[in-house]
Amino acid sequence: MEYHNPVMLEECIEAMDIQSGGIYVDVTFGGGGHSKRILSELGDAGRLIVFDQDSDALEQADIRDSKLTFVASNFRYLKRFLDYHECIPVDGILADLGVSSHQFDDVDRGFSFRDQTKRLDMRMNVGQQLDAVAVLNNYDEQQLADVFYYFGELRNAKVLAKAIVKERKSRALITVGDLLSVVETVVKGMSNKFLAQLFQAVRIEVNGEMEVLKEMLLAAGEVLKPGGRLVVMSYHSLEDRIVKNYLKTGNVEGRIIKDEFGNIFRPFRLVNKKTTTPDALEISKNPRARSAKLRVAEKI
Ligand SMILES: C[S@@+](CC[C@H](N)C(=O)[O-])C[C@H]1O[C@@H](n2cnc3c(N)ncnc32)[C@H](O)[C@@H]1O
Repeated sequence: MEYHNPVMLEECIEAMDIQSGGIYVDVTFGGGGHSKRILSELGDAGRLIVFDQDSDALEQADIRDSKLTFVASNFRYLKRFLDYHECIPVDGILADLGVSSHQFDDVDRGFSFRDQTKRLDMRMNVGQQLDAVAVLNNYDEQQLADVFYYFGELRNAKVLAKAIVKERKSRALITVGDLLSVVETVVKGMSNKFLAQLFQAVRIEVNGEMEVLKEMLLAAGEVLKPGGRLVVMSYHSLEDRIVKNYLKTGNVEGRIIKDEFGNIFRPFRLVNKKTTTPDALEISKNPRARSAKLRVAEKI
């Protein structure tokens, strides 16, 4: 099975505007689909620094190329590692957010609700302590409701949190099946859509996805050279809102900042004013691409 099918590959490569001697960063290496194409556009003087916090990504990467540097770390440390590898400023940064097909399809990782016997894990970095078992068994009712509501946009977040807290008084929730059996008591006819939103919410919390995205974007603005490209592909509205705010205003809250003369501070020029989305052919071949939204901006 393919590790991961790269989404909007041509669109991303075009958006990066690759110069053969430039320095580029792929903060989400995954199966290396985008990275391989970036490498093929680079000449001998070019460099590509890639990040992935999942050791599986590193293990399956069969690229031998002197232009490539692999950083087995969270992209929240973007600036620190680029500094260490002496490659600031950079010409372009690509982020293809979320989990890979490999992470999702490997049921032992606990990201999917397909196999009820599996442990609720959901860590991209298996060296990290916090996993889904810890979130579901240790968070208080309000914290759980917030996770379900803000990260899964579930309307019955409070009811579900209450049911989980009640159930775990008699037994810990360890497996996918344990969680589904509680959900069943409060949600009639659990749809796949509902479960996908619930699992997304827990996954986002386990991996701190919103916080690390914000940190990475702020760092990206600091390490890109003027004219450098920031290319971000997101898969749900929470991520996309943060990316849009940052590209438009230079801060993740979307606050308009003016100088003393009233001029609006704009650190980026938007290359695509609206998001770019995959065409019908790509979606038919790769259903995971369905929710992808690409934003491209150039550092001023
Ligand atoms: C959607 S996949 C990227 C797929 C890749 N573009 C390709 O074509 O094969 C996302 C990858 O980024 C990694 N990832 C997600 N968030 C990360 C973070 N904060 N730091 C480092 N890696 C991260 C995941 O482990 C996963 O392997």
